[in-house]
This record gives sequence, C-alpha cells and structure tokens, in this order.
Amino acid sequence: MKKVLGLVVSNRKLGNSEVLVKEIMSNIPEECDRELIRLTDLDIKPCKACYVCLQPEKACPVQDDFNFVIEKIRKADALIIGVPVYFLGPHGYFKMLTDRLVGAQNHAQATRGKPCIIVMPYGSTGWEGYSKAAAIVMPNLLRMKLVDCWQIFATLPGESLLNHDNISYARSLGRELFSGREYQAGSKECPVCGSDLFRLLNENQVECPICGSRGVLRNNGSHEFSIPDHHRFSDQEMDIHFKGWLLEMKDRFLDQKDHLKELQRGYRDMNWWVKP
Ligand SMILES: Cc1cc2nc3c(=O)[nH]c(=O)nc-3n(C[C@H](O)[C@H](O)[C@H](O)COP(=O)(O)O)c2cc1C
Repeated sequence: MKKVLGLVVSNRKLGNSEVLVKEIMSNIPEECDRELIRLTDLDIKPCKACYVCLQPEKACPVQDDFNFVIEKIRKADALIIGVPVYFLGPHGYFKMLTDRLVGAQNHAQATRGKPCIIVMPYGSTGWEGYSKAAAIVMPNLLRMKLVDCWQIFATLPGESLLNHDNISYARSLGRELFSGREYQAGSKECPVCGSDLFRLLNENQVECPICGSRGVLRNNGSHEFSIPDHHRFSDQEMDIHFKGWLLEMKDRFLDQKDHLKELQRGYRDMNWWVKP
C-alpha cells in the first residue's frame, strides 16, 4: 500500500497549510497510509556543518527530530508540503529543514522521482517575495517530481476554504498525485525548475538562481531558455557538487587545518557573547 506523508510547516492549528494538505490527502483515490507531521511541533536544530551525512549510510549526528522526519520522507511514496509565506520567503522552519539536506544525494536514492506537492498560502498580494523559488529547492535536492507549487492567497486561518475553487483545485491535486502529473512552468518561469526569479547578466542574458539555467531576455519581455543538458539539479551536477566539490573541500580543510587554526586563534578570546 502506498504511503503519503503530509508535512505542515505552520504552528497555526487548522490554518490554511493544514486544511489544504488534508484536502489534498483525503482525495487521493489510491488506497494509502496517510501520516501527518507538524514540523513546527518538532525540534529541528541548525545544521552544524560537520558533513558527516555526506557519507552513504551515515545519519545526521545532531540530536533532534531531523532523522525522524527524513526517514518518514524517505519511506513515503509521496510528499505533500504545506508551508506559508513568512516575510517574503517560506516559513523559517522549512529553510531549517532544507539546510539539513547536505546528505541529499544519499537520501535521493529513496526519494527520486516520487511526487511532491507544495502548497504555499500567502496573506498579502505582492508579498509572495522569493517564496516559490526558495520552496522548490528541497524537492529538487531530493530529486523528487514536483507536481505543483501552488501559491494560494489566504490571510485568515482557514480562509482558503471560503473559495470553492481552492477546494476543487486541492481535490484535483489529490486525485492526480499518482497520475504522472508534473509541474508545467509558466511563461514567466524557469522552464527547467519552475522558479519565478531571475538574475540579470550581461547582454540580455538571464540566469535562474535556483537551478542555474541561462536564457536570453527578449525586448518584448519574454525569455528564451535553451534547456541545458546539465543544470544544478541534474545527476551530473549534483554528483560534481556533493561527491566532488564538497569532498574536495574536506581534503583542502585537512591540508589547511593548522594554518586556519593559527589565523583563527586571535579571535578566540573575544568572548563578548551574551545569552538570556
Ligand atoms: C510572521 C508572519 C509573517 C508573514 N509574512 C507574510 C509575507 O511576507 N507575505 C505574505 O503574503 N503573507 C505573509 N504572512 C501571512 C501568511 O502567509 C498567511 O496568513 C497564511 O495564510 C498563513 O498560513 P497558515 O494559516 O497555514 O499558517 C505572514 C504571517 C505571519 C504570521
């Protein structure tokens, strides 16, 4: 039987993220085991940059709930994330979780190709900020198949339910979760990853800061991207970054360790830290 995990990244009980994740999950026609995690109820600490998880089979050594969450994500056949926009980006707990995915290449053996839906309620039109671009990083790192990243206007708790179109859309997402449906980037989005942010380069060139694909901005405002064989989230580039570059950095660190320690020493006694 299929397992479906709903990840709610909002402290608001029965808020928009929660009810929409539940609406999607309750409309999956296939027989499945459903589980919900409210990420904000769990203890997710910052990544301590030890890189232990880069090694296959090595769990994150930080003592908190991350390993519980990633195991649930790995075992699930599909992931439905509900994460609101907080100050122009995804809720900070979602970023905390994404930061813990240095071992993404190892997890991707379990998560690759599995469907992922992101529902992002936002409360003020024009305040969506960089939230969509930031939210799609996590499923891309895990090599999941993005079914949708649905940004939905809803301010008050549960307000999304006032509009029946929202409920219908959530139901269609549930019905089509396992149908092979895949996110179709809009005409103003990166055709490779779906991000809606671009960095301007020289001579009308634009770059997607999320997947690194490049295109040309035309005078009429449209853009033309040549779909590259390799982009940040392709197998080749991910291996170059995680198995190549990051491991090289480990060797470089071992080479330079003593010299770096020497440089750092002068700062050690500046103990101006305060705590509550
Ligand atoms: C601390 C905080 C910051 C917020 N920042 C934004 C924002 O930058 N842009 C926006 O459109 N909505 C913002 N909102 C509104 C929420 O995105 C909106 O109310 C959403 O429906 C909350 O989802 P929830 O009910 O699942 O918690 C913010 C809400 C809070 C509490």
